[in-house]
Amino acid sequence: MGAEQSLAAVILAAGKGTRMHSDKPKVLHTLLGEPMLWYVLEAVRPLVGERLRTVIGHRADMLRVEFPDEQFVIQDQQLGTGHAVQCAWPEVQALNARWCLVVNGDTPLIDGRMLERFCSAMIQDEVDLAFVTLTLDDPASYGRVVRDVDGRVRGIVEAKDFDARQHGQATGEINAGMYLLRVESMGPMLSCISADNKQGEYYLTDLVELGVRNGMRVAAMDAGDPLACMGVNSPLELSVSEDALQQRIVRGLLATGVTIHASASVRIGPRAEVEPGADLTGPCEIYGATHICRGAVVESHSWIKDARIGPGSVVRSFSHLEEASLAEHCVVGPYARLRPGAILDSGARVGNFVEMKKARLGRGAKASHLTYLGDALVGEGANIGAGTITCNYDGKRKHLTEIGPRAFIGSNTALVAPVRIGAEALIGAGSVITKDVPDGSVAVARGKQQSFTKRKP
Ligand code: UD1
Ligand code: CA
Repeated sequence: MGAEQSLAAVILAAGKGTRMHSDKPKVLHTLLGEPMLWYVLEAVRPLVGERLRTVIGHRADMLRVEFPDEQFVIQDQQLGTGHAVQCAWPEVQALNARWCLVVNGDTPLIDGRMLERFCSAMIQDEVDLAFVTLTLDDPASYGRVVRDVDGRVRGIVEAKDFDARQHGQATGEINAGMYLLRVESMGPMLSCISADNKQGEYYLTDLVELGVRNGMRVAAMDAGDPLACMGVNSPLELSVSEDALQQRIVRGLLATGVTIHASASVRIGPRAEVEPGADLTGPCEIYGATHICRGAVVESHSWIKDARIGPGSVVRSFSHLEEASLAEHCVVGPYARLRPGAILDSGARVGNFVEMKKARLGRGAKASHLTYLGDALVGEGANIGAGTITCNYDGKRKHLTEIGPRAFIGSNTALVAPVRIGAEALIGAGSVITKDVPDGSVAVARGKQQSFTKRKP
């Protein structure tokens, strides 16, 4: 069995995150549309596969909803990071792993490759306990690494408990919150952690001093990259991390050949795919599993999530797209709203103040102004006049509107669903259509215009 296969991992995510001033657990706060915990899971999972447990506690229900497939361990009371690992320990032992990687759930910029280097180097050295460090100009609220005169690690002292007279001058070396424990030797040490400190918490970091005192092999590895270790405890730190991630993603895309104007204001989530040759202008936001094809253009002030923008399609300014799909050479906006299930076939166009939901526009069909298309199928080449509304909801259920190929819907028409407009049919402006219209016919449904002689005063 290879060293990696005998590795399990525990992510600590039970804390409330008091400094976030929010009812939501801290690890559910998002960076570029994905929760903090998502990033940590992504980095850790490749190293351990199914041997991954996440400790949750505060609002565990919310975490279960957000991550339905994850294997969780409950820490009922948040008595500290050491206690959190104690709660997960029976599960770790049941996994029969020789080593356990422990990672704080609030380090979303974590780098999976760095973690892998850390684990394999430390496993090769057969350490009992190892942790990742970093040297910062300002150690802020991080735990401080304390070494003896020979430079050997003595322990980690939490910022609140740090006293220069007792622990020596701070060197700026901090604990990044990522640890490797040898299960056999460190398990018994876990139960020796006490809560005898300023915060009255069971600190996981006390393991270091306990290990050293008991003659264990304790090692520290410098991560090199401060960003990869940034802990997020406050809205300010969240914002700094999110901006750093934004730059990382945008620079990566620029390097592959995506054109990005005003790049500092283009926010792209980690799951989005943008092909080389696409052209984006900030400010705009592109989240979730969005896919933007080569030759597509996204203009400024657009918000896009879980959408597909086909080759050569253009999303003009101020458009809002969610779970929408554009084939090639479509044009959307400015000021369009495409809600889930909006589908545009090749060359279809949607103009300003048009809303679509669960609606399909066939090849080359157009809805250029002020329209609502909900639960609708529009045939190819059809033209939907300004102010057309599909009245899809009767107060209880939604109904379908079908519009045949090359039909022409005059302005300000209400199509009361369920209803079918035939191919090449023409609807007079201002109609309220409640009955099916056959192929090729003209339908007008409105009050007749009348003119009277004006009486002279
Ligand atoms: C912790 C470390 C500190 C390190 C820093 C790195 C301890 C005692 N201190 O401090 O040395 O420099 O991380 O970012 O570990 N959690 C639980 N259960 C609890 C308490 C916390 O699961 O009872 C989780 C939190 O949800 C969080 C993580 O553990 O994801 C770290 O907890 P946090 O309170 O943020 O620790 P720090 O004070 O940042
Ligand atoms: Ca933290």
